[in-house]
Amino acid sequence: MEEPEIVAACTGADVLLPTVTDRIGAALIAALPASVRLIANFGVGVDHIDLAAAKTRNLPVTNTPDVLTDDTADLAMALILAAARRLGEGERVLRAGRWPGWSPTFMVGTRVTGRRLGIVGMGRIGAALARRARGFGMEIHYHNRRAVPGNDARHWADLDAMLREIDVLSIHCPRTPETVGLISAARLALLPRHAVVVNTARGGIVDEIALANALKEHRIAAAGLDVYDGEPKVNPALLALENVVLAPHLGSATEAGRVAMGERTIANIEAFAAGRPLPDLVNT
Ligand code: DGY
Repeated sequence: MEEPEIVAACTGADVLLPTVTDRIGAALIAALPASVRLIANFGVGVDHIDLAAAKTRNLPVTNTPDVLTDDTADLAMALILAAARRLGEGERVLRAGRWPGWSPTFMVGTRVTGRRLGIVGMGRIGAALARRARGFGMEIHYHNRRAVPGNDARHWADLDAMLREIDVLSIHCPRTPETVGLISAARLALLPRHAVVVNTARGGIVDEIALANALKEHRIAAAGLDVYDGEPKVNPALLALENVVLAPHLGSATEAGRVAMGERTIANIEAFAAGRPLPDLVNT
């Protein structure tokens, strides 16, 4: 729905329940009927909601953490493997009838065992990916402003320094004004030629043009993306490349995950209706 439609649909409503694709900006929030007293987001990411504007209007915003952690980490691991082992490219070749048959040098990819995985954002999903990647024999490194206590992965406060040391990069931080363009052309240039870059967090954190150029010029080996700047549009420069696996924002897309997200959204609405503290309040 466009903004005016959302506002019109809220007439007489107590709660606005957006999904992660609805833009809930300051103008929309200001135009909402006074009856709306909660924004209960169906999803964990809230970069599409102007939290400050909601706070100014005294509108609490809730989200759905935890319930999609494992599903999203599974997809990140799947993209790491698919990109490193050229699964998308291989399937396209086979389906097109262009498979010449097994040979020692046919579609040789990158081994992940023994490689260093660098996680940007060691939150719930980053930690869940670290658990999975350890099972694949990977060494875990992460970049956060501060070290996460009780974590035996190697912490890097300096992102650039970590990028020089890793083989696989996976993004798990929220999209904020500080993280848009975080993985820039200059930072991609710090990665080794066999590097794999995966983003299951939000589009725009990795500079898509810079990524497409690095992939095209084989300055990195491969990428796996689940999120894009301006979804559902995907940058044509990425679509033209063989060495990137492209998924349509499937991180939380399991039946169990989506049901749990719905239940978590309802739990917040029920708490609001009963005047209880909101379990997943985002704009405290
Ligand atoms: C979220 O909840 O933010 C996810 O991106 C949806 O898959």
